[in-house]
Amino acid sequence: MSNQSGKKPLLLIIDDEVALTRSLQIALRDPGYEIAIAHTAEEGLASANALRPGVILLDLRLPDSDDLNPLERLLAMLPDSPVYMMSAHGDIKTAVDAVKRGAKDFVTKPFDIKALKTRLQGHLQVSESPGQGLVGNSPVMEKLRQELALIAKSPAKTVLLLGESGTGKTAAANEIHTLSALAGKPFVEVNCAALPEALLESELFGVEKGAFTGAHKSRSGLIEAANEGTLFLDEIGELSLAMQAKLLSFLESQRYRPVGSTDEKQANVRVIAATNRSLSDAVEEGNFRADLYYRLNVMPVKLPALSERADDIPLLLEHFSMSFSMTSDPVSFAPEVIETLTGYHWPGNIRELKNLVERLSVLYGGNEVTLAQLPDEYSEKLPENKVETLASQPAEPVGEITEHLANEEKRLILGALRESGGHKGNAAKRLNISRHALKRRLQKLGIQS
Ligand SMILES: Nc1ncnc2c1ncn2[C@@H]1O[C@H](COP(=O)(O)OP(=O)(O)O)[C@@H](O)[C@H]1O
Ligand SMILES: [Mg+2]
Repeated sequence: MSNQSGKKPLLLIIDDEVALTRSLQIALRDPGYEIAIAHTAEEGLASANALRPGVILLDLRLPDSDDLNPLERLLAMLPDSPVYMMSAHGDIKTAVDAVKRGAKDFVTKPFDIKALKTRLQGHLQVSESPGQGLVGNSPVMEKLRQELALIAKSPAKTVLLLGESGTGKTAAANEIHTLSALAGKPFVEVNCAALPEALLESELFGVEKGAFTGAHKSRSGLIEAANEGTLFLDEIGELSLAMQAKLLSFLESQRYRPVGSTDEKQANVRVIAATNRSLSDAVEEGNFRADLYYRLNVMPVKLPALSERADDIPLLLEHFSMSFSMTSDPVSFAPEVIETLTGYHWPGNIRELKNLVERLSVLYGGNEVTLAQLPDEYSEKLPENKVETLASQPAEPVGEITEHLANEEKRLILGALRESGGHKGNAAKRLNISRHALKRRLQKLGIQS
């Protein structure tokens, strides 16, 4: 996700032991990707910023910083690039801590090069680059694609992407950047939820030398790194009120002040913000500034939930099965599996679908997945509330049961539709059945939509 288009995926190794980085470089050499080396945390962060590596190997103990600080900054800068920690035997506790904070995994030195290689290769080969396009040809998707293209070409300085987690907000931000005139310029991604406020501020705006103990030299921030390009602020709803004020001021003037500096800097960036929360609710609750909300909301784009574009599911299944086939033969799906998955409600959206296909590829690569092999949660279930309601009813003569069930079903469905304001997708979710199942039932019960 974080590689710039056209480039080979990059592996960045950050370790102060020169001999070790050299032998890793030789051992991991591969025609499919490139390797970059850094020997200090500062150098590593600067390379990560400039090169946007697809995978990072990071030494747990670097001479110029606290153990987990470089990790946190890398995760904020490149939320989609997995970071593997390299640790010595005595450091297991800290390494486990690192994984809790978001590192992908850790390897203890000295490590099994072959195992490490296989692991990294998987990432580098399936790592995506922006501009490969969004998959889907449902009407909803076509409309979204047009919308993104128009926005990309427009002079809009701020764009707001809304949608549940896993619907493709990050992918859409990449798409906007790639389709825009800024395509050859930096695309810098920051996850606002990943860092505490103070770190986020210095990460975004940079730091002036001497601003606080430990700020031995000035450091430029991510806004500067994104200059002339796109800055993608993910999970903007998690920004503190103080940071919201600073961001608003930057959006209005394109000027900002590095931490501890008296001088303003200028940067020309398009800001794409994304959130899975309702910002208008956050405004009402007093957690989000109304003025920033209005500023961001000039150009909102709503990413549809996957269940709202179920027509695309067969295509997405095929797309991901092909993309995971680099490490194994592609899986295929029995027709009833495709049907079942098309009707599933996908609370985790495309991310969930992708993860499922990855899991099935590992288990059944080269074969056709049958309904029985599908994890239980993907087959249709009766809604629990319905089971309860029925269980509490007194027994009835058999002849009346069918009618009673039909009435009960109708009552539940109408209730769910009413509670979700007539929205079928949401009603289906409330009932814990698929949209297709809801449609079928509506027809059967003769309920007009
Ligand atoms: N239309 C699409 N076609 C193919 N893959 C997609 C599409 N939308 C999202 N994805 C993939 O699904 C996963 C989740 O998307 P992401 O953009 O990270 O969602 P969000 O940012 O909304 O949580 C990513 O791996 C992304 O590449
Ligand atoms: Mg995202």
